[in-house]
Amino acid sequence: MTFDVTADAYDRFMGRFSEPLAEQFVGLADLTAGQRALDVGCGPGALTARLVERLGADAVAGVDPSASFVAAARGRFPGVDVRQARAEELPFPDGAFDVVFSNAVVEHVGGRDRQRKLVTEALRVGRRAFITTPNRRFPIELHTRLPLVHWLPDEVSHRAYRATGKEFATDVHLLTRRSFRDLFPGRVRIVSLGLTLVAIVD
Ligand SMILES: C[S@@+](CC[C@H](N)C(=O)[O-])C[C@H]1O[C@@H](n2cnc3c(N)ncnc32)[C@H](O)[C@@H]1O
Repeated sequence: MTFDVTADAYDRFMGRFSEPLAEQFVGLADLTAGQRALDVGCGPGALTARLVERLGADAVAGVDPSASFVAAARGRFPGVDVRQARAEELPFPDGAFDVVFSNAVVEHVGGRDRQRKLVTEALRVGRRAFITTPNRRFPIELHTRLPLVHWLPDEVSHRAYRATGKEFATDVHLLTRRSFRDLFPGRVRIVSLGLTLVAIVD
């Protein structure tokens, strides 16, 4: 799914969710100076900002396929290595990072094969990985702000999204705790933060 919106429009829509979540999420990783971190699907940089604060710009990299988000993140964080790339093909060698983060991205990359690829790539380039996604079991759907519709079969919920002018939501592939865990080839801890699930491999 391509986010073809400006960083300002995105921040107006998602900022009040992504900013506090980013702080809480990064706090889980117990980062220490000298570590290198990657933000996969960095968007305009809500989470990247927290990483730069803790580790310094030189130790942080980000990727996102959206040209407008890459430009916004580069402008906001001089010194951070921000690349236009997809989570499924990260342009970094094996083990390049101590920690890989990805906040609210895996539900946007496509179906289960692509979601699995995001996980495989995160684990290939990072020694530890922290990946979040909205919990499908939460009664409000974050992207549409609609209650319960996302629990209906796809053909019904997609009709509802189209009828309410929220067609973009037909590209969102939500995960439950179990389907999230199943994306990981080995040991993973799934932590619930209410609306959000966090998968931790460390
Ligand atoms: C809900 S936003 C989250 C942005 C950011 N992580 C944050 O916490 O604010 C989803 C992001 O995933 C990015 N995205 C969509 N498909 C992607 C893919 N295949 N690989 C990497 N990022 C992707 C979008 O461009 C967008 O920036």
